[in-house]
Formats: sequence, C-alpha cells, structure tokens
Amino acid sequence: MSYNSYIRSTGSYLPNKCLTNDDLSKMMETSDEWIFKRTGIKERHIADKSEMTSDLAFNAAKVALSRANISAEEIDLIICATVTPDLTFPSTATIVQQKLNANKAFAFDMSAACSGFVYALATADNFIKNEQVKNALVIGAEVFSRILDWNDRSTCVLFGDGAGAVVLSRTENKEKGIIKTELGSDGSMVNILKTSGGTGLNQISGYVEMDGRAVFKFATSKMLEITKRFMEEYKIDYVLPHQANIRIIDYLMNNLQMTEEQFIVTIKHHANTSAASIPLALDTYISNGHNFENKNIFLTSIGAGITWGGILISM
Ligand code: UT7
Repeated sequence: MSYNSYIRSTGSYLPNKCLTNDDLSKMMETSDEWIFKRTGIKERHIADKSEMTSDLAFNAAKVALSRANISAEEIDLIICATVTPDLTFPSTATIVQQKLNANKAFAFDMSAACSGFVYALATADNFIKNEQVKNALVIGAEVFSRILDWNDRSTCVLFGDGAGAVVLSRTENKEKGIIKTELGSDGSMVNILKTSGGTGLNQISGYVEMDGRAVFKFATSKMLEITKRFMEEYKIDYVLPHQANIRIIDYLMNNLQMTEEQFIVTIKHHANTSAASIPLALDTYISNGHNFENKNIFLTSIGAGITWGGILISM
C-alpha cells in the first residue's frame, strides 16, 4: 500500500495590532502612496511584545486541528517554518508541541526564510509518503517585526507578523493531495537578503538587509520558470505565490496569461509575513468561503538563501 498526503484543514492567526501605511508615514519619511504603488501593501499586523512566534503558531495550529477534527495526540510530526524563533534552541516546533500537548509527535523547525513553508510542506509530504507519519502539522509563523530595522524605510514597510498552519494527512486517493514538489537553492546569493547578525557572528539576531532590486529580479524570473515548468505537465487552476510584492505577482500573472481570479493574493492586508505568507493566504481564502474542492493550486516561493520551491496540490 502506498499513500498520498492531502491538506485536511487550514488555520491562521494574526496579532491584533494593525499598522497602516498612514501610521508608518507618521513614524518615518514615507507615504501610503509610495508603499501601495511600489508593493501593493496597505497594512500589516504587528505582534505585541508579549507574543512570540510559538504563540502565533499555536493559535493557528489550534484552528487547523479543530477544523481537521483530530486531537493533538493524533499528530505524528510538527514542522514549524520560521526565521524568528522564540529562542536559539530548543526549536519553536517543540515549544508549540508543549503548548498543544501533542505528545506523540516529533518536532523540528525549518529554516528557509520565505520559502520555509514550502520546504516544510514538501518535507512532511515525504514523511507521509514514506509511511513514517500519518498526520503532520505544518506551520509557517513569524514575528518578523522583531528583526526589522525601523530606521530603514526600504525594508521595514514591507513585512508583517502572522501564522498559518495546515494539517497534512495521509490518503489512499492518489488523485487528491500533493501531486508534485520541487525545491531549490543557490548559495551564491546569500548576501542579497540576510540579517546583519546571528548567533555565530555576533550573538544577536540582527536586522534584515536586502538588495531589493536583485531579489526582485531573481524572484520574478525564478517563480515564472518553476510555474511554467509545472504548467507544461499539469493543469493549474490557481497560483498561490509568496506574498512579497504585488508587482512580482502581476509579472507572473501577465507572463502566464492567467487572470486575477486565479491568483491567491492577501499582500494588501498582511504584507510579507515570510514563512507564514502562503499558509496565511490559503487559510484567509478558505475562511472567507472560497471553495477549492477538486481544484489544482500551485504554491511557489522565493526566500533568502536564495531558496525557492513549487508545490502542486489537488485540493
Ligand atoms: O520575501 C523575500 C523576497 N523579497 C522580495 O521579493 C522583495 C523584492 N524587492 C522589492 O519588492 C522591491 O525592490 C522594493 C519594494 C524593496 C523596492 O522597490 P523598488 O521599486 O525597487 O525601489 P528602489 O529600491 O529602487 O527605490 C526607489 C526610490 C529610492 O529613492 P531614489 O534613490 O530613487 O531617490 C528609495 O530611496 O524609493 C525610495 N524609497 C522609499 N521612498 C518612500 C525606498 N523605500 C521607500 C519608502 N518610502 N518606504
């Protein structure tokens, strides 16, 4: 018997505080006009000082578990994709495990920046297909606001905090679920998107530093290339790209000759939430009543490393 994995449920969580572009323009030399025109972002959520990545992840996971109608004890694997962990160690995934009381699972974090969720989902899919796991909780969660330099208007306006989660379960139905995954990275570009610090370098987490134009150029060409490759082989009904910049998403849409309705986009209200972007957007659409039943969704990401990925899912 061989199995496939499918998305059984989704959940997400956003911190209460919402910071608009107008709020930002009172804090620094920027404007709603510049931010919205250049990025498509209007507002982002910012975690309270008392809230950590594990809290956001826990809240998103609770929703996904209740919608899957399974108990935390039935989860065999927890992967938390994040670059803003609560602590250097233990992993945020094990802290979430403790909060959920998911005591039969093994848990670890995935570090692939904005590609983290795609990497985590592909990993969980492999564990299920290898028959080591029946139910996995795959989370993308970030308090990205903690690693922003609030004096650098070229980066701090782009990001927000949030979490998204899915329960990935095994199925005998080969037509449904994760059809194909592809991951990639190119370490020659480690310097175009990175933090100014780290445990090894200077014992602080540091702040985000980005060569925006270089990342933009790579993101557009790589995400287009992967999506086209999958399209040659499979039918794609919807594309869910990493939510970094509406201009990157528009570029994909135009070059793939797809319509706005075929793109899952939440950047206007969430900004770029790094590893949380994709599961947060998926859950937002599903929670708003969008029915993806029997449709093929293609997830595609780009993140620091540079890392990238593509996952085709039949919902
Ligand atoms: O999640 C990982 C993946 N990340 C991405 O994919 C991000 C990719 N990059 C981008 O989305 C874009 O490159 C940015 C949104 C970061 C920047 O947009 P851009 O069109 O490349 O702008 P730019 O960096 O070339 O800056 C244009 C101008 C500059 O002024 P001068 O030199 O032309 O006078 C900047 O100083 O805009 C200025 N600027 C701002 N002005 C008002 C930069 N940030 C701001 C700001 N408000 N917040």
